[in-house]
Amino acid sequence: MNQSIISPLQRENYSRDGFLVLKDFIEENVCDLLISQANKLIDEFDHSKNRHIFAAKNNDQYQLRNQYFMESAHQISFFFEENAFDANQNLKYEKSKAINKIGHALHDLDPVFNCFSRTHKIARLVNELDLQNPLLLQSMYICKQPHIGGEVNCHQDKTYLYTEGEPVMGLWFALEDATLENGCLWAIPGGHHYDIKSKMVRDENGILKHETYDAGPWDLNQMVPLEVTRGSLVVLHGQLPHMSKENISSKSRHAFTLHIISRDAIYPKTNWLLRPDNMPLRGF
Ligand code: FE2
Repeated sequence: MNQSIISPLQRENYSRDGFLVLKDFIEENVCDLLISQANKLIDEFDHSKNRHIFAAKNNDQYQLRNQYFMESAHQISFFFEENAFDANQNLKYEKSKAINKIGHALHDLDPVFNCFSRTHKIARLVNELDLQNPLLLQSMYICKQPHIGGEVNCHQDKTYLYTEGEPVMGLWFALEDATLENGCLWAIPGGHHYDIKSKMVRDENGILKHETYDAGPWDLNQMVPLEVTRGSLVVLHGQLPHMSKENISSKSRHAFTLHIISRDAIYPKTNWLLRPDNMPLRGF
């Protein structure tokens, strides 16, 4: 019989904390493979006509009304760091050191990321964490570049990937060590018991906006750093408040993330991430 991926104690810790760190979940050579595939994609990306930045701060200014962002739901799209360009819109850094992230359908469109995302071990883990009938909703390759890797404000993933019923589950694979210096994750233990503070919704005109239910700030004093070594997996409950700080170090912090929902949950069409009919969401 197959051994379980996680122990009963780890399951308990996940339901208590809203996050779970699994050290050495993926092998070094797999980290290398994903990094090299991302580098290849960035290399092939023609940025002369695509200069979209992904600013996790000031979402409203940068993402709202942004067709490129919404269309990335079913594409492999590239987002630059906020400070990647000078006043004349020229890149200040070499392209490979200026990309913030790649998203959001790598797991369906790129053969390497597809293969990795649908490995048996990941499917079993998701099953052991009681997410039934999984669908792989989105994927991101996050670079957190040296010196310019931007802060990601404290948020709950359910704000951006809203479901009724079972919430979205985030899988955050560290492809490089994530430390205090290069901008590791931070989270509020037990914070997944809080309701969402806001929800991003697409209106009937396809414009994105936020519905706010609680405008108060998060108590950042409750945050704990999740420093992890390369190959670790951090599982994040969809209502867990989490963030990452700027990377002002000289080391990158590459990570690959998957967000998974249950087919049994209601996924409203007001979500920003909608797939066209010819590209439905798939499971493992
Ligand atoms: Fe997140």
